[in-house]
Amino acid sequence: MSDKKYLVTGANSKLGKLVISFLLNEYQIKPSQLIATSRNPATLQSLADQGIETRAADYANKDSMVQAFKGVENLLLISMDAVGKRDELHTNAVQAAEEAGVKFIAYTSMPNPDASPVFFAFEHEATEKAIAQSRIPAWKILRNNWYFENLIDFYANVLHTKAWLTASGEGRHAQISRTDLALAAAAALVNSESGKETITLNGPESLTTSEMATLINQVLDISINVVHLSEEALEEQLESFQVPADAIIFATTMDRHLKENKSDGTSEAFEVLTGKKPQLFADWLQENKQSLKAISNA
Ligand SMILES: NC(=O)c1ccc[n+]([C@@H]2O[C@H](COP(=O)([O-])OP(=O)(O)OC[C@H]3O[C@@H](n4cnc5c(N)ncnc54)[C@H](OP(=O)(O)O)[C@@H]3O)[C@@H](O)[C@H]2O)c1
Repeated sequence: MSDKKYLVTGANSKLGKLVISFLLNEYQIKPSQLIATSRNPATLQSLADQGIETRAADYANKDSMVQAFKGVENLLLISMDAVGKRDELHTNAVQAAEEAGVKFIAYTSMPNPDASPVFFAFEHEATEKAIAQSRIPAWKILRNNWYFENLIDFYANVLHTKAWLTASGEGRHAQISRTDLALAAAAALVNSESGKETITLNGPESLTTSEMATLINQVLDISINVVHLSEEALEEQLESFQVPADAIIFATTMDRHLKENKSDGTSEAFEVLTGKKPQLFADWLQENKQSLKAISNA
């Protein structure tokens, strides 16, 4: 095996931790070949304890990244969480990778960033463009579909209130587990020979919001009522609940994205990349039943 150096940014993110684990355990990459970055490397102590080098890298500080990316051949750029300036900050990271002589970059994007109405799509579109226009010789854009875990992170109120107000209509969306997306990112980093490619990583089935609710109800033995609204009616309802304006924009533009089938698709690219089938939503619900039940009973 070569002694190629692999670097994962955002290594302390939920996705990043899983990627590192797959690189070590599934792809048998040696800890000495791995570099993990965070704005605060002290948060990566458990990785350092395993023999992984940790470095500081802040997307807002290009010089810190040029230093951090030195000697790296394959780099996974995990998109940051704070929306608003990600186009500019991710572009800094791409330029730093180019300057540091990185040979391959993979980036965690979203489905159809160039055509999506989601309010943050422009940031992923701009990052993809920065990568395509860079002199980095090989890259893979990973257009990650939405995580099943968003049910916990962003839609817990659906479980709690048993009411799913949605403007997503009959739109189909092939959501996928974060763990599967981490496996795919690790696979992309390791199998980096295939030039310049953009792929969309979807789950195994494309479901409507009502179909997802039916599965949740079956597995958790609860009764979520899906209320279909126009986008305008959803916005009015959320305003009447005094939901903050940015959360309303998130909910309404996300539902428009789903309604327009911008997250529809098959899992073929995932299977080609990883050699595996992604987890079904029903199986993910079973695996996480206890924590989902706790939210629904809260
Ligand atoms: N497909 C989906 O459904 C979905 C859902 C949620 C999020 N996402 C995207 O996927 C990414 C990974 O998901 P996750 O749930 O694992 O995220 P997460 O746990 O919330 O982690 C977010 C990461 O962003 C990093 N970050 C924030 N500001 C940064 C900066 N200025 N420079 C460098 N890194 C910065 C943080 O790193 P440090 O604090 O260690 O520096 C942290 O590791 C998210 O950041 C987001 O872009 C996708």
